Amino acid sequence: MNFHTRKWVKPEDLNPNGTLFGGSLLRWIDEEAAIYAIVQLGNQRVVTKYISEINFVSASRQGDIIELGITATEFGRTSITLTCEVRNKITRKSILTVEKMVFVNLGEDGLPAPHGRTEIKYVKDQFKDDGLSE
Ligand SMILES: CC(C)(COP(=O)(O)OP(=O)(O)OC[C@H]1O[C@@H](n2cnc3c(N)ncnc32)[C@H](O)[C@@H]1OP(=O)(O)O)[C@@H](O)C(=O)NCCC(=O)NCCS
Repeated sequence: MNFHTRKWVKPEDLNPNGTLFGGSLLRWIDEEAAIYAIVQLGNQRVVTKYISEINFVSASRQGDIIELGITATEFGRTSITLTCEVRNKITRKSILTVEKMVFVNLGEDGLPAPHGRTEIKYVKDQFKDDGLSE
């Protein structure tokens, strides 16, 4: 799993307990996962269909640097299934895990459409396909 995105926990992200507000974290995860799905499926019309049990493993505090990791676990006909982990960048301690997030690829009519993808596409290979790099 690659941890591409980092966030700095700021005062506006906290709950009344002084730790990271779950809603802020879920917003970041949903956005990060949607971007991952868009890039993998090559289509901007992708929607969140399903999010499994979310396990808030440990708290994060103001000033912490956290990182979000997403990877694809399954390519369906119109869907893609992802898994996610958030951890503290410095200590590597797990903050949250989401076992399963399903995104659906939509056509212009807003209905599920086959995406034709079967495996994870890496950035270096995408550039190769575009003929932009060697
Ligand atoms: C996404 C949506 C168009 C799918 O419609 P649908 O009638 O469920 O479509 P289908 O039954 O054809 O299923 C589409 C895919 O989702 C998968 N799916 C459907 N329900 C699922 C569920 N509960 N859990 C996991 N996967 C599910 C199906 O297996 C299928 O994948 P596949 O083609 O790879 O096998 C519709 O449910 C919708 O518009 N939901 C709201 C999305 C939204 O607003 N999200 C929040 C904002 S982004």
